[in-house]
Amino acid sequence: MATDTIETNLKENRVFKPSREFARQAHVKSAAQREALSKNAARRPEKYWEKQAAELKWQKKWKKTLEWKPPLAKWFVGGQLNVSENCLDRHLTGPRRNKAAIIWEGEPGDTRTLTYHQLHRETCRFANALKNLGVRKGDRVILYMPLVPEAAIAMLACTRIGAVHSVVFGGFSSQSLRDRIQDTKAKIVITSDGGYRKGKAFGLKQQVDDAVEECASVKKVVVVKRTDQTVGWHPQRDVWWHDAVEGQSAENIPIPLDAEHPLFVLYTSGSTGKPKGILHTTGGYLTVAASTARQVFDLKEDDVYWCTADVGWITGHTYVVYGPLANGATTFLYEGAPMHPGPDRFWSLIAKYGITIFYTAPTAIRAFMRLGDSHPQKHDLSSLRLLGTVGEPINPKAWSWYHTVIGGGRCPIVDTYWQTETGGIMISPLPGATPTKPGSATLAMPGIDAAVVDKNGKEVPNGKGGFLVIRKPWPSMLRTVYGDPERYKKQYFSEFGPKLYFTGDGARRDKDGYFWLLGRVDDVINVSGHRLSTMEVESALVAHPQVAEAAVVSIPHEIKGEGIAAFVTLRRGTEPVAATTKELEKAVVKAIGAIARPDKIRFTDALPKTRSGKIMRRLLRSVASGEAVSGDTTTLEDFSALTKLQEED
Ligand code: WTA
Repeated sequence: MATDTIETNLKENRVFKPSREFARQAHVKSAAQREALSKNAARRPEKYWEKQAAELKWQKKWKKTLEWKPPLAKWFVGGQLNVSENCLDRHLTGPRRNKAAIIWEGEPGDTRTLTYHQLHRETCRFANALKNLGVRKGDRVILYMPLVPEAAIAMLACTRIGAVHSVVFGGFSSQSLRDRIQDTKAKIVITSDGGYRKGKAFGLKQQVDDAVEECASVKKVVVVKRTDQTVGWHPQRDVWWHDAVEGQSAENIPIPLDAEHPLFVLYTSGSTGKPKGILHTTGGYLTVAASTARQVFDLKEDDVYWCTADVGWITGHTYVVYGPLANGATTFLYEGAPMHPGPDRFWSLIAKYGITIFYTAPTAIRAFMRLGDSHPQKHDLSSLRLLGTVGEPINPKAWSWYHTVIGGGRCPIVDTYWQTETGGIMISPLPGATPTKPGSATLAMPGIDAAVVDKNGKEVPNGKGGFLVIRKPWPSMLRTVYGDPERYKKQYFSEFGPKLYFTGDGARRDKDGYFWLLGRVDDVINVSGHRLSTMEVESALVAHPQVAEAAVVSIPHEIKGEGIAAFVTLRRGTEPVAATTKELEKAVVKAIGAIARPDKIRFTDALPKTRSGKIMRRLLRSVASGEAVSGDTTTLEDFSALTKLQEED
């Protein structure tokens, strides 16, 4: 599969230069300016990051910029700041005071606008409510919410009092929620009676009730009233959001926090074991969130910026909430499904709110592309000036469609490569400076030392594929895997030694040094830009009483990028019946959530294994995607297992 990607990409040799008009008004105006920035940053990275950090408000200046004891990094040591103060209070003295901070639209079409002054007020009230409920500095708070303004308010309120938030995507199951609550030992869960999606009110409270039953750490559950559904109620434990903030003062002094104070934990799938709680800290994270949002999205005072991610993902943290607000920008939030009530909802929102910057995932672009040009063409999209993508490689065809049909040929596209672990964008065009090539994330951001290396950690020449690493620490790098420092080392800093951060992605650079991402090299599947571990899906399948063994691999999927194929061996004496597939799908949805539902389930008598007993996923991937099995099969234990699978195909 990796070779395929290289071949397809090699055929792509169009170059799109930023227009003169765009370049003239951009923060970074030319390729030469970007190169100078990058060169200086490469020579003195700490100086570069000091300059970016100095754009923030510090309550106490740091003493030491970087303390690097590979693989452990501390940034801006001795400095103190508060994230919510940087995102809110800072903007209250000038004309931004009455500027929209958040413009929100619910799926049914209801809308709310919060100016910086109002968002500050609501955040202070909720921060006071949290304190009143017993939340103290360092306590963990779980958010399990639809995309309503309260989600952003809750995040900001946590940062204001030094509580550590962990947002769990509302599409995850109660079991996933339970695991994350248990891992963080959270004191409080903030949720809602539900939200709207695809024209229906879905519930969240029941999942919380189920999860919390097994979580002794949880003392209170705060519930936002969004849908007016009837919900179960535990009077000792549950409190409505509106009751919690009732009578709370709209003043709250943001407490100074050490630059290395934990800001949030966000769970993401790794190749093995349970999800990893990625820990980000205060000063370094905000420095990169703010500076990359400014440079990559070229944020200006009058922009209406829309990143379509949910706050349950890292993109929702860095580029829906913290990055834009730290820049005093207007960030737009939409609660519901992209195709509701019709396939033109996104485009109608762009026209209605005059969105100027639009940032979404390739999977969404492909889904829209398939529906044809007529839906976007119904709407006036002329307010757009910049487009972005994130989450997976974008194929040149989807890039071209996005460029022409959505961007009217006039908007630069920033294809931004980064990860939950990196906290902010690592590789991306700067829209006024970087000529783009469809399918390439182009160049490393200033201050980021990205490289493609071979398995010995040696940089490969341009044109050759290899592993993507980052060779120097950067301020928004993850600090650890929550509660598991060993896993941090093993996962990210062992493949190529303790100094090189390994992304888990394959990449190559072309003759101009541009990066082309080739997908994951480990057992992580990227479904619609969401990382899922083969391991977790397999565990969910094996938990079914009839299943003896399961192997899960990715298959190419037209819309989702990658889909999930499961090979399942049943216990001896049991035969798959019509209902078995449905039952197995259900088991996965229950354990993880609907995003992990397998696209294909195949029953087989035996799985191809190495002599040491390892499932040969490489072979299964070929079988699942209908390709000829190539490469080395000499370690295969029982060739007949493979032949049989191919024959059945
Ligand atoms: C993939 C999302 C190609 C990659 C911000 C990475 C990409 C994983 C791109 C991280 C891109 C993200 N081009 N691949 N522009 N952006 N990826 O943690 O495999 O949800 O490792 O963070 O998505 O996914 P995560």
